[in-house]
Amino acid sequence: MSILITGGAGFIGSHTCVELLQAGYEVVVIDNLSNSHEASLDRVRQITGRDLRFYKADVRDEAMLGRIFTENHIECVIHFAGLKAVGESVRMPLEYYENNLNTTLTLVRAMRAFSVKALVFSSSATVYSSTNAMPLTEDVSRTGDCSNPYGWTKYMQEVMLQDIARADESLSFVLLRYFNPVGAHQSGLIGEDPQGIPNNLMPYISQVAVGRLERLSVFGDDYPTPDGTGVRDYIHVVDLARGHLKAVEYALGHRGCEVFNLGTGRPCSVLEMVRAFSEACGKQIPYVIAPRRPGDLPVVYSNPDKARRMLGFETQKDLKDMCADCWRWQSLNPRGFSE
Ligand code: NAD
Ligand code: UFG
Repeated sequence: MSILITGGAGFIGSHTCVELLQAGYEVVVIDNLSNSHEASLDRVRQITGRDLRFYKADVRDEAMLGRIFTENHIECVIHFAGLKAVGESVRMPLEYYENNLNTTLTLVRAMRAFSVKALVFSSSATVYSSTNAMPLTEDVSRTGDCSNPYGWTKYMQEVMLQDIARADESLSFVLLRYFNPVGAHQSGLIGEDPQGIPNNLMPYISQVAVGRLERLSVFGDDYPTPDGTGVRDYIHVVDLARGHLKAVEYALGHRGCEVFNLGTGRPCSVLEMVRAFSEACGKQIPYVIAPRRPGDLPVVYSNPDKARRMLGFETQKDLKDMCADCWRWQSLNPRGFSE
């Protein structure tokens, strides 16, 4: 059975390709490589000893989607393709709305034309409003009130997909709200390879550790948290990828539209992460305390019970694994895939 993975050359997509291939699925990838390298797919082949089919194309190219659905027997689509940088979305809202909304609309239209019913969609914890109590729970916590265009694109895509699934009861859509994906495959062959200076904590720390950046700025140490620094729910990318396997199985066996958090439910502060990474790489991570980053919340973490109950999904990896695997990837590939 073939699974189409949009954005499959990217960070989460490449790890998901590995898990699907290892589980015996045939994998077809469409990616325009706007934020990734084809080398990641060669590494996926190397890790799994299996082949996958790659189309270098834009998901908004409806004719190409038609060709893919004609040439392959696709049973389910996992839709990762999208732009994802919060700060960039504030500077380039048009590009974000255009890319993120139109990829989804074009994809769902092509799925309808070829009677493909099952879709797993990459959403984000960012769709939750900033005023919720923690932990965030799918059917209780409020959504909307997003603080940037990227967040609104995820929110709008969720609304669109829920409406589309409501109107056609043969469809099966699974919306996954990721918390903070970090780490890398344990082989050290694939991992996160951000363009330019990283915005996110883990890639920033790992580039400090490898000597590409001088020191980390810790954004605020006066939050109402145990050590004053921001608290998040970091999830190992291989656990996250395994979550997609569970979501595909669920989508193929059910109808309707369900939303799931994918997180560990275990809060972790910036300084805890710095300490864990220092232990993993055997060096001190130089840091300075800097002002709070505008828009950041003090604490964000998930209630992972629904995914456990309905998907049978539980994370297996801890903070130590996240840091050790991230460090292995970074130290073996100091310049990412562009070596
Ligand atoms: P990524 O940038 O590594 O992967 C996205 C991939 O999509 C890239 O390979 C890019 O080239 C491709 N792409 C973008 N627009 C495309 C288009 N129009 N046509 C074809 N390909 C296109 O990002 P990632 O971290 O792997 O994230 C995957 C998904 O998960 C995204 O939708 C992102 O918004 C979502 N997400 C990520 C995080 C995170 O922290 N990494 C958190 C929550 C949600
Ligand atoms: N942080 C620093 N220094 C840095 C970078 C981050 O101290 O250089 C702190 C932040 O202030 C925050 C924590 O580290 O307290 C995590 O920050 P990230 O930027 O790594 O992650 P966010 O939780 O801010 O956001 C991420 C993605 C969003 C996504 C959200 C929830 O960037 O796209 O997780 O999934 F929506």
